[in-house]
Amino acid sequence: MYNNIFDTHAHYDDERFSDDLLTVLAELPSAGICRVVNCSTDLNSCEKCAEMAEKFDYIYFAAGIHPHEAEEAQTDFIEKLKCFCRHNKCVAIGEIGLDYHYDLSPRDIQKDVFEKQLILANELKLPVIIHDREAHEDTLSLLKKYKPSGIVHCFSGSVEMAKEIVKLGMYIGLGGAVTFKNAKKPVEVAQFLPLDKLVLETDCPYMSPVPYRGKRNDSSLIKYTAEFISQLRNIPVQELLNITTDNANKIFGINE
Ligand code: NI
Repeated sequence: MYNNIFDTHAHYDDERFSDDLLTVLAELPSAGICRVVNCSTDLNSCEKCAEMAEKFDYIYFAAGIHPHEAEEAQTDFIEKLKCFCRHNKCVAIGEIGLDYHYDLSPRDIQKDVFEKQLILANELKLPVIIHDREAHEDTLSLLKKYKPSGIVHCFSGSVEMAKEIVKLGMYIGLGGAVTFKNAKKPVEVAQFLPLDKLVLETDCPYMSPVPYRGKRNDSSLIKYTAEFISQLRNIPVQELLNITTDNANKIFGINE
């Protein structure tokens, strides 16, 4: 049984939690979870994430427009996001970024919405939570341009790219994908990455680690990812959890 587990990336507003959301959230502390950052995907999701953060003291949220939803963003979305950012449980702008795998919004719109949110993060001095799927080059060049603080989540790039991210002072989020049989790059990154640049995440309800791959994920399953990485790094699981939780508290400015 572990404790002090910080899930830096969850989507508890997803409809797959609609039947038992309050039960799932209420049980997290008994599974050793100390904090969760819910990442929103659009303004509607910001509202739901804010509500959850008001109900549970260990739940925080990030406000942002996901690249999938970029095309739906209204002209005044930055003003609306700003209101959510003033919420005392809002600790980041996210999740934001580029997704050239699904391409659910046209790429020029994705880039525009991403860039506006990077500017907002710098203006408000908030960290960002970045989504980058098959868009490594464009993501990296925008991160180099705006130099935000924060996390590149569910990192799928190479060790070379991870080095660039670390050079920018950013952190890398690893979750269930690192445990998948075909995971090669995330495993290399988990082996190389300085531990003071690593945070853990679920991306729940997605990305359940082995042995729950394909099932609904929740923060209590983060321990399988932690066990997998601690074996790669040859350190005790609880020590890895303590380090990554310290990192997350530092990124989000959460004091003990
Ligand atoms: Ni996500």
